[in-house]
Amino acid sequence: MKVLLINGSPRAKGNTSVALAEVAKQLEKNGIDSETVWIGNKPIRGCIACNHCKQHSGACVFNDDVCNGISAKFAECNALIVGSPVYWGQPNGALLSIIQRAFYSNGANIAGKPAAAIAVCRRGGASASFETMNMPFQMMNMPVVTSQYWNIVYGREPGQAALDTEGMQTMRALANNMAWLLKATDGKPAPGRGAEPWEPMHFIR
Ligand SMILES: Cc1cc2nc3c(=O)[nH]c(=O)nc-3n(C[C@H](O)[C@H](O)[C@H](O)COP(=O)(O)O)c2cc1C
Repeated sequence: MKVLLINGSPRAKGNTSVALAEVAKQLEKNGIDSETVWIGNKPIRGCIACNHCKQHSGACVFNDDVCNGISAKFAECNALIVGSPVYWGQPNGALLSIIQRAFYSNGANIAGKPAAAIAVCRRGGASASFETMNMPFQMMNMPVVTSQYWNIVYGREPGQAALDTEGMQTMRALANNMAWLLKATDGKPAPGRGAEPWEPMHFIR
């Protein structure tokens, strides 16, 4: 079983990387594999609502950034953890663009799989960022995995997050809970929308 970890920071070896590495190490102790993908620091497009992906097997029309490569990994993983630095009280914009595009184009391959978000900040805005990242999970029948605190880690300069001992403990507890859920469910995704087929209602009269 494998957990896909997305590092949404433009700093490859920043504090988000420290938080995710702690999760990966603890997953390994629980016998669960992981793969960490860094979104990089090159330009990333936003969704243009063209619906190209709906006619092209979940491939986003933009093939000049990392989005399609990351969303291709949705099918291979059993669970997803997204980590982001906090920018202006929000997750990093590039990461949000990837999540919005990948979930829209290729959400069928991540639906129902356990998920968690991690927010990394110097001082404030982590709770709002954490909630923002959780929003797509809840629309996609993804069981949101918890810890013993909100998944928040503090640090400013790269590496300082390792000094946040409670944050690191929160990361380990998250990994333990993720491993527990994956083992309890044999890594199978949650069944989905339940008994009722979706009846969209777009508030159009
Ligand atoms: C553009 C920008 C905006 C930021 N906004 C916030 C903020 O709103 N709250 C905060 O506590 N830290 C803020 N920070 C600091 C980062 O969240 C912090 O340095 C974090 O450790 C970065 O994670 P990284 O090392 O993984 O990139 C901001 C940093 C940048 C570059």
